[in-house]
Amino acid sequence: MAISIGMFDSGVGGLTVLREVERLLPDDSFVYFGDTAHCPYGPKGDKTIIRYSIENSIFLIDQGIDLLVVACHTASALSLHKLKSTFSIPVLGVIEPAVQKACTATHSKRIGVIGTRATIQSNVYQKAIHAHLEHAHVFAQACPLFVPLIEEQFGNREIARLIVREYLLPLKEHNIDTLLLGCTHYPLLHTLIQEEIGSDVVIVNPATACAEAVAQIKKTLLHLKKEVEEPLRNQRKVFFVSDDPVRFKETGERFFGYPLPDVIHVSPTNSLI
Ligand code: DGL
Repeated sequence: MAISIGMFDSGVGGLTVLREVERLLPDDSFVYFGDTAHCPYGPKGDKTIIRYSIENSIFLIDQGIDLLVVACHTASALSLHKLKSTFSIPVLGVIEPAVQKACTATHSKRIGVIGTRATIQSNVYQKAIHAHLEHAHVFAQACPLFVPLIEEQFGNREIARLIVREYLLPLKEHNIDTLLLGCTHYPLLHTLIQEEIGSDVVIVNPATACAEAVAQIKKTLLHLKKEVEEPLRNQRKVFFVSDDPVRFKETGERFFGYPLPDVIHVSPTNSLI
């Protein structure tokens, strides 16, 4: 039985999450919204990110989704509480499942977290780790240059290695044994990050942890659907963006590694004004 999963991100980055969820749940429907008109969220202020997140969620819920996944770490850090208390469908962010995984993986309780400036400044990852693991030592580092490096296709160049090395140096000096990739884009730098942080450090990719959590929620939803005998919808995969769909499709195909269906341009904010 299939469900309809809505997912939003500030742009293409959330496709790293979609890819993992799709891998686990290939028969479900996906409605993806990339808020490319407002991307990046990382350098923006709390209130702006919360407002965009609410608008994106209303748009997706209007598409008839059963479950909302906030694929963006910045949006998850700043708006998840608000979204959970505002909407009646299940809302899942990327932070909680990843934190659980990192806390299970660590032996020394010395955990590194990297993310956008807004995510790191929000302290949400740090607090969540401490809530799960008493006496954990959390070392957080904002890496604002990673997103443009990846989007501008500089990820394989020497400059990327130098920047990764520079950002990770303080974490290396703190002798972390686990590193959490707290941003949609960072799994695309996985190899480089592993090489620079050291092969003995466990890297946690929140996209895979999130996919496992989505699969769990699906089980509960199916149980409820059966109880109310809801009819099944046809499987569909739709991509919406708030800015140039062609650019999204090109970048998205690079992220994904296979062709995307047509991308539709919408302006969710207009419907609220
Ligand atoms: N999607 C964002 C995140 O995961 C990264 C890009 C942005 O700054 O909007 O935090």
